[in-house]
Amino acid sequence: MVAENIDELASYVAEELTKLSLDSVKMNGSFSLALSGGSTPEELYTLLSKEPYSLLIPWKYVHVFWVDERCVPPDDIESNYRQINDELLKRLEIPFENIHRIQVELGHKQAVSLYQRELQEFFRGSEPEFDLVILGVGKDGHTASIFSDSNYTEQVGNYVSFTMANYENRPGMRVTLTFDAINSAKNVIFMVSGSEKAEIMKKIFHDKQKQFPASYVSPSKGSLKWVLDREAAELL
Ligand code: 6PG
Repeated sequence: MVAENIDELASYVAEELTKLSLDSVKMNGSFSLALSGGSTPEELYTLLSKEPYSLLIPWKYVHVFWVDERCVPPDDIESNYRQINDELLKRLEIPFENIHRIQVELGHKQAVSLYQRELQEFFRGSEPEFDLVILGVGKDGHTASIFSDSNYTEQVGNYVSFTMANYENRPGMRVTLTFDAINSAKNVIFMVSGSEKAEIMKKIFHDKQKQFPASYVSPSKGSLKWVLDREAAELL
């Protein structure tokens, strides 16, 4: 799907999220949602925090997880928890126990094992079938906090991992869902915006060798959607 601009892109994803959450709550009584940090989803989070989405989405039954976290305190400007809390969660009526953040302030190893346990408990020992995972893509083709040098092919069997990365002066140490977790999801949506992403989009879509982490996202049973704006899609 190619949207005209970031506003249309955010509206499209907000509509999808609304439909999926209503269906899932009707069928199973809850909706598990894993969200990414970064600048691309900011419009979406702001949109979701306001009417009509603040009323339409059954937030009381939505369980929010983080796709990845940067190893900084939870009130740090670079924290993905801080971002999503400020832009979305604190504006909504959502029960505290529905917020499943990655506790990186305890150290990356402890954060990995606690988050892994949190997933096990929530998904009752089965693979983490998130109802929806929202992903972004970096200019280098990374997604979540899985970078080209993250040894992701060796992470098989784990749902959470840590990595060290250099990207745009953002904090290097990260904790992330692995491809095993992402690819177990029922729905995955990539959001990509801006002309600075056009080159990597061209490479990912024409990449037969799977050179980039984002190319490894391929839900085994679920659906995958790429939602780009016109600028990000200009070389496709
Ligand atoms: C993070 C994100 C990361 C992000 C991409 C794209 O913590 O940085 O979760 O995976 O989605 O880096 O970031 P932008 O949307 O800022 O381009």
